[in-house]
Amino acid sequence: MDGKNMACVLTALNTLEFKEVPMPKAGPGEILMKLEAVGVCGSDVHYYQHGRIGDFVVDFPFILGHECAGTVVELGEGVANLKVGDRVALEPGVPCGNCEMCLTGHYNLCPDVKFFATPPYDGCLMNYVSFPAEYAFPLPENVSCVEGALVEPLCIGINAALTGGVQLGDTVLIFGAGCIGLVSLLAAKACGASRVIVSDVIPLRLEVAKKMGAITVNSKEEDLLKKVAEVTGGRGVDVVLDCAGFSATVTDSVRAARPAGTIVVVGMGEDELNGIPLGPISAKELIITSLFRYKNLYPTTIKAIESGKIDISGIVSKTFTFEETPQAFRSAADHPAETVKNVIVFK
Ligand SMILES: NC(=O)c1ccc[n+]([C@@H]2O[C@H](COP(=O)([O-])OP(=O)(O)OC[C@H]3O[C@@H](n4cnc5c(N)ncnc54)[C@H](O)[C@@H]3O)[C@@H](O)[C@H]2O)c1
Ligand SMILES: [Zn+2]
Ligand SMILES: [Zn+2]
Repeated sequence: MDGKNMACVLTALNTLEFKEVPMPKAGPGEILMKLEAVGVCGSDVHYYQHGRIGDFVVDFPFILGHECAGTVVELGEGVANLKVGDRVALEPGVPCGNCEMCLTGHYNLCPDVKFFATPPYDGCLMNYVSFPAEYAFPLPENVSCVEGALVEPLCIGINAALTGGVQLGDTVLIFGAGCIGLVSLLAAKACGASRVIVSDVIPLRLEVAKKMGAITVNSKEEDLLKKVAEVTGGRGVDVVLDCAGFSATVTDSVRAARPAGTIVVVGMGEDELNGIPLGPISAKELIITSLFRYKNLYPTTIKAIESGKIDISGIVSKTFTFEETPQAFRSAADHPAETVKNVIVFK
């Protein structure tokens, strides 16, 4: 595939095909990056199987992939912060820079953000992409491109732990042992949580959480609130990170949190929440908050990996070559319980 820009293109539901696409140029302020690693996200697999997430509808052909790292091969005019040969992770959402949200420090909420693999914008499952240099973050020598690709989901976990205000000694409850729950577990531990309880309903996923140091609860088989009471001596947890996002998990979050505790709603598993008990929300003065992706967190996240504070390698389920991308998606779609994160590694 050398010298050409081949893309792995979603041409119909469950159908990925390789097609040659134009070789991009590094425009002013941009880099040209050769892709080295791309993580397959839950959202990519969802578009692959269903062609839409909420109001974002795929218009075929469409290119998936937004968690990526690679090597800088060309610099556009005026790029001074990087050089050819640098390995970088790309922050995949480029905001407009001019709207109220951008100008008030909430660039992650920019309504005009161009985010890889979010319709109508193509993703990065191809050999070369051009990208604004200010959203390309250099990887230190001891951080691999696979780890670089995983900076994206890890940023969400770090955002969750920081938004929840996780502190030294805290007990944290996490709903969901999918990729987002697991990166939140790693982030909560790195922020100093002494105990992290992770609840899910899939035993294989709970096993991964346990390996990462969590106290695990299968809420289908065990009474979660009883377990929380046991672990905290009846006090409740300091912080809840709901990385599942169902009425049942938000309800349990309200019941499991200690007075003046914080709940962060990260998951979007359900369109609407029903039956959330208002009594304890008020009586416990709970702080209930949420987050959308991340902002200004790439440098922090890369430093967390570089320093060894967070070992992100444990979330990789399997690696595939670029040519095996269709298999990587098929395997993630067919075996969700066994798959935390498939990663495409380019030759
Ligand atoms: N807010 C954001 O910016 C943001 C970013 C990325 C993902 N998300 C959302 O976060 C959620 C998690 O993402 P993911 O990729 O890990 O998804 P995932 O589907 O792989 O993981 C969700 C997990 O929740 C578990 N679950 C379902 N019901 C449960 C219950 N009652 N109790 C405990 N666990 C339960 C599932 O078994 C699954 O393992 C999704 O809803 C996703 O849309 C939000
Ligand atoms: Zn992702
Ligand atoms: Zn904007």
